Amino acid sequence: MKNDPISKPVYVTQPALPPLEEFIPYLQQIWDNKMLTNGGPFHQQLETELARYLGVPYLSLFANGTLALMTAMQSLRITGEVITTPYSFVATAHSMLWNGIKPVFVDIDPDTFNIDPRQIEAAITPQTTAILPVHCYGRPCDVEGIERIAANYGLKVIYDAAHAFGVQHEGTSVLNHGDLSVLSFHATKVFNTFEGGAIICKDARTKRHIDSLKNFGFADEVTVVAPGINGKMSEINAAFGLLQLQKIDGVLGRRAEVDARYRAALSDVRGIVCPAIPASTRPNYSYFPVLVQPGYPLSRDELYDKLRASGIFARRYFYPLISEFPMYRGMPSAKRENVPNAMSVSLQVLCLPIFPDLDPVTQDAIIALVRDI
Ligand SMILES: Cc1ncc(COP(=O)(O)O)c(C=O)c1O
Repeated sequence: MKNDPISKPVYVTQPALPPLEEFIPYLQQIWDNKMLTNGGPFHQQLETELARYLGVPYLSLFANGTLALMTAMQSLRITGEVITTPYSFVATAHSMLWNGIKPVFVDIDPDTFNIDPRQIEAAITPQTTAILPVHCYGRPCDVEGIERIAANYGLKVIYDAAHAFGVQHEGTSVLNHGDLSVLSFHATKVFNTFEGGAIICKDARTKRHIDSLKNFGFADEVTVVAPGINGKMSEINAAFGLLQLQKIDGVLGRRAEVDARYRAALSDVRGIVCPAIPASTRPNYSYFPVLVQPGYPLSRDELYDKLRASGIFARRYFYPLISEFPMYRGMPSAKRENVPNAMSVSLQVLCLPIFPDLDPVTQDAIIALVRDI
């Protein structure tokens, strides 16, 4: 059983999709009422239901997480320099460049994969206006440490929470930290609406401002109050989100089982580290990162190639670091000496496939490829 060949490619993730026939009645409603976008009934309902499910006060839906990040920074009028992590998906920093903001990279804590608050203060300059940390793999940042520094220096905090749908820290939603948090509902995420995203905020006034910014800056039919953008989520995506939300507990439950099976089977493999999830976190099991260290007979890239040769498409998230890409690497904060922990982790990490439909036989075949060397 264990060494059964893998018959079709297995990717790092595979979206959870409800039965198609369950989506048809939603489409029928859209066809009947002819509201396709612009804050229609499904959009409003999804905002309400998601805020309730996530345990957050206000939520504004977006067409994707990148537009939500860009709009989050616009809404707080962030300018100058923003302190962030190089160990993330490139959209984290790109959304700053699109706003004319300079990202300043600070190293990560190698145990959490998240920005190291102890190194933030040294990166603050008179131009710094905000900190934009990432809850990498859905593991909460040191929110207390970050927010202490932000309060001392009068900085805003926007969390890139693209990976952190449903995650709790110390018993409450991690999305309630900072001034704003940004989610992604991209197809690869735990909760997906094909494409989609959201900004979480704390009060109705901020939500109204964000809602106007995502709708070209319109405050009402004839008043434009800001140079806004088109960031709206369509009714099809919102309707799909409502159906997905009905299934989310099952999705998270299956992910937990896959996570547990990997941990049980891989934790004794010499040179393979399965970083533990902190006890204060209720996780969403969005990724299964392992670190391939010198005690393992293969290098990280050799293991990556070996898995690929068997049709297993594990991913090296996050290699290369954002700070290695051409538009960033000339910046002083992008120097490798400035981000040694992020460099070292990016050369060791491999994210193994994790998704609800990963069946135990296929998972055991992946485990066997990692174990039997
Ligand atoms: C950390 C992080 N930030 C931002 C994004 C951008 O989100 P989207 O693809 O919805 O634009 C992603 C994922 O795609 C991400 O992983």
